[in-house]
Amino acid sequence: CVTAGFAGRVVRWQQTHGRNELPWQNTRDPYRVWLSEVMLQQTQVAAVLGYYERFLQRFPDVGALAAAPLDDVLALWSGLGYYSRARNLHRCAQEVVLRHGGAFPRTAQELQELPGIGASTAAAISSFCFGERAAILDGNVKRVLTRVLGFREDLSVAANERALWEHARALLPTRELHEAMPRYTQGLMDLGATVCQPRNPACLVCPVQEQCVALREGRPEEYPVKTRR
Ligand code: ADE
Repeated sequence: CVTAGFAGRVVRWQQTHGRNELPWQNTRDPYRVWLSEVMLQQTQVAAVLGYYERFLQRFPDVGALAAAPLDDVLALWSGLGYYSRARNLHRCAQEVVLRHGGAFPRTAQELQELPGIGASTAAAISSFCFGERAAILDGNVKRVLTRVLGFREDLSVAANERALWEHARALLPTRELHEAMPRYTQGLMDLGATVCQPRNPACLVCPVQEQCVALREGRPEEYPVKTRR
């Protein structure tokens, strides 16, 4: 059964217990997904909702955003924090228009070359919008995967972080589950945000509790290991 392994369990769990009503989930429009992912990089969902709606009203597509003065973008961003995100957002919109004819690239590798889009955000966009088998690894997902795998290496060391990326790729849905990529990506994010929290994780309701090394050890809170910052 293809849903017996890690990816299948995450996908099945997401369907019934994940978040499925967020405004950027009812679309495969890369502009909307990109905007939401950048806003969510350092900001909680509840704080993003209003900004996301106002942004889309004022800048309904990437062309509108690219054509706007930077000051208008910064004004609408005001209060969200981390303003380099807004500057990169504007530059990214201009690059999509000028270098890609107004269409976002469809692979994580190409998306990553745009301003403000790191490896994890690129994979989120390509898996949500185009179903690419690309691994995400943001802060929440690092916590989920290090615990499940019992990955004790220090993530402040670049080589260890690279090793965890390899693990993230190895856990991706196989061919048979490939069409579930958007749900798999969302499921990992939802697990990290709602079950596999930094303190007092809700292991009793976790869909991957049987395969979780950290739970078996009885010390999920010790993961991830990060000595610097
Ligand atoms: N954080 C980052 N991306 C997210 C998403 N797509 N849904 C909810 N929270 C997120």
